[in-house]
Amino acid sequence: MGNALWSGRFEEGMDESTLRFTSSLDADSALAFYDVMGSLAHVMMLGKRGIIPAKDADAIVGGLRSIVDMMEKNEFSIDESLEDIHTNVENLLTKMIGPTGGRLHTGRSRNDQVATDFRMYLRDVALEAVDDINGLIDSLITVAGDHGETVMPGFTHMQHAQPVTLAQHMLAHAFRLSRDADRFLDSYERMDKCPLGSAALAGTTYPIDREMTAKALGFRSPTENSMDSVGSRDFATEMAFCAAMTATDLSSLCEELVLWSSQEFGFVEMADAYTTGSSIMPQKKNPDIAELVRGRTGAVTGSLVAMLVMTKGLPLSYNRDLQEDKAAVMESLASVSESAAILSKAVSTASFRTERMLEATEKGFINATDLADYLVVKGVPFREAHGIVGEAVRFCIAEGGRLEELTVEQLRKFSKKIDADVFDVLPVKACVERRNSMGGTSSASTDAQITEAVSRLMARDGKVRQETQFIEGCWDELLGRSK
Ligand code: ARG
Repeated sequence: MGNALWSGRFEEGMDESTLRFTSSLDADSALAFYDVMGSLAHVMMLGKRGIIPAKDADAIVGGLRSIVDMMEKNEFSIDESLEDIHTNVENLLTKMIGPTGGRLHTGRSRNDQVATDFRMYLRDVALEAVDDINGLIDSLITVAGDHGETVMPGFTHMQHAQPVTLAQHMLAHAFRLSRDADRFLDSYERMDKCPLGSAALAGTTYPIDREMTAKALGFRSPTENSMDSVGSRDFATEMAFCAAMTATDLSSLCEELVLWSSQEFGFVEMADAYTTGSSIMPQKKNPDIAELVRGRTGAVTGSLVAMLVMTKGLPLSYNRDLQEDKAAVMESLASVSESAAILSKAVSTASFRTERMLEATEKGFINATDLADYLVVKGVPFREAHGIVGEAVRFCIAEGGRLEELTVEQLRKFSKKIDADVFDVLPVKACVERRNSMGGTSSASTDAQITEAVSRLMARDGKVRQETQFIEGCWDELLGRSK
């Protein structure tokens, strides 16, 4: 056993268990395509700068392009006896074109190579995550659009607080998730710099052109410092944070879907296609998707913690610990994307039981603040009004009944300021419509919110499309497939 690419230093081969323990193929096989792209950019630069003979560079480019063809035909197979994807690609290349393949690794190291590959990979999955979160936001906005006048209880401390609309509630989730998607794009900008050419840690003696490779790989610019480039993973940690924050927000939405599906709430019924049954209880229809998304938040948050702890005590520059970054972050991003995508379908196919929501507003004196506000308008200081309404509520609790069921005479026992026009403000629909402050729950306000949410969604959508096309253009260029 041992690595044919660098066996010189060793007298004996590597033990089988060492190879298995140190191999990163389980995770970094996913970087295969990016690894070849990085190599193409690198070798074209080496040829252009005369660091290796032009004809050798051409041969390597040809070999690397054939490897991509093989990948596309599913004919690229991994050699498990080589410890990572970089060695696999270089080894295959050399098998295909002979010893000339050995010139590819001039002026670079796997340290800058892996940092570059991972950034390219994360750029793509970040864009996918934004796309999937956008899909869910779109579903939430659609529900909001249909339910601008659907009144339901709004909660604080899980107690009936004030009436809101289902639109307002769905938009709250939509804006929260909108920030999650924005956060991915913010991190994307910071990540979009190319470490290639930092070599092992100190740069290289060859007259390389880092601007050229960065540009060819679609990065905004090269990174600034070679040691930072190979020794830092904050870009990956930031992605893990974006994923963890999103997972937390998805989990909060899911918690509500689970509660709302319960017999006690009965606010929502998930479509059959997005629920499961019980093996023993024939009547059951379980909101498993929401439960699983909520449950996966643990692992996603775990990845963030793994990244922070993994990197906290590392001296500069590259340390093999860093190899552990990939599995953690790859999984957490995949999990968040998958969760958002399926939730989008579950939300858009769910039936919201508006009659149950309205019924629920009849409990818990949800219009008490409105009665207090009414008194304020009639000149009573708010604190005093609060006390008056508190007494009225206490009376209703003792006698049974709701505030709006009292007669004017009964209400006037609590304050002489109350007149018959009190019944204009007490119905829950009125409570909702009168909350027309900016960002409030009135239908005029939720209409405005929808306009804003849609415009942000479209802006992100445009950005994702633009970046995706741009990156694909770079790949076409490197593969000699430019139109
Ligand atoms: N598999 C390695 C990783 O993911 C690649 C870099 C290896 N570098 C090294 N000096 N052994 O980090």
